[in-house]
Amino acid sequence: MRPYVFVNIASSLDGKISDEKRRQLRISCREDLERVDELRASADAIMVGVGTILADNPKLNVKSKELRERRLREGRTENPLKVVVDSKCRIPDDAQVFDGKVIVAVSKLAKRESLERIAKKAQIVVLGEEKVDLNSLLNFLYDQGVRRLMVEGGGTLISSLLREGLVDEMFIYYAPIIIGGSNSPTICDGRSFELPVRMEIVSFERLGEGILVHTKPRKN
Ligand SMILES: NC(=O)c1ccc[n+]([C@@H]2O[C@H](COP(=O)([O-])OP(=O)(O)OC[C@H]3O[C@@H](n4cnc5c(N)ncnc54)[C@H](OP(=O)(O)O)[C@@H]3O)[C@@H](O)[C@H]2O)c1
Repeated sequence: MRPYVFVNIASSLDGKISDEKRRQLRISCREDLERVDELRASADAIMVGVGTILADNPKLNVKSKELRERRLREGRTENPLKVVVDSKCRIPDDAQVFDGKVIVAVSKLAKRESLERIAKKAQIVVLGEEKVDLNSLLNFLYDQGVRRLMVEGGGTLISSLLREGLVDEMFIYYAPIIIGGSNSPTICDGRSFELPVRMEIVSFERLGEGILVHTKPRKN
């Protein structure tokens, strides 16, 4: 068994989620940031790849006080559990994500010193020989009570999840900007697929200055 997995990502019109320097760019508008905060508040856990931690150093907290209070009233933690996919345990020990409960999923490649350093900050799970075994990680999270898992990037992690058929739905916010750059990270990086992943458009709507696309992989 695995949690329901939904991906949220903000993109330029040319499909980029950052620039060549991998800087964190302001892509979303205010309306989109509010929508993302609602989605975060609805999740049991939020997952990112270590590339996103190294580039953006996100906190991954619910920003709105009202939404955090609502979670507490519902008997949940103020913020969702945070999960970092990090084969070699490269996450810095002063990463801002270490606020609340965090799980760092590593593979057998992670060095003992790194594991000892991060064990003071987070729960560590070792799953996979080289890369983190995402199927096993999702099973593990389900056993921990995670039913709704939000994935906030980056493109390499999203690519692996799509490849392994582990994505239930995606929300892509397209801002009216062009970032350019053949080396800029995109919504789905890594190797290209043998055949394109066929998606279904569930809905699309104008949101603030951009367009929100709700899409999901086709079942057959
Ligand atoms: N616009 C947005 O909404 C948004 C959101 C998030 C991120 N971003 C941008 O995206 C960029 C970071 O994306 P990224 O693609 O470099 O990194 P990422 O997807 O966040 O993390 C990828 C890393 O995770 C580790 N990993 C371990 N097991 C894996 C597995 N089974 N499958 C995939 N990855 C696995 C790998 O590093 P190891 O081998 O070392 O473990 C891999 O390089 C940044 O520029 C950031 O600003 C944008």
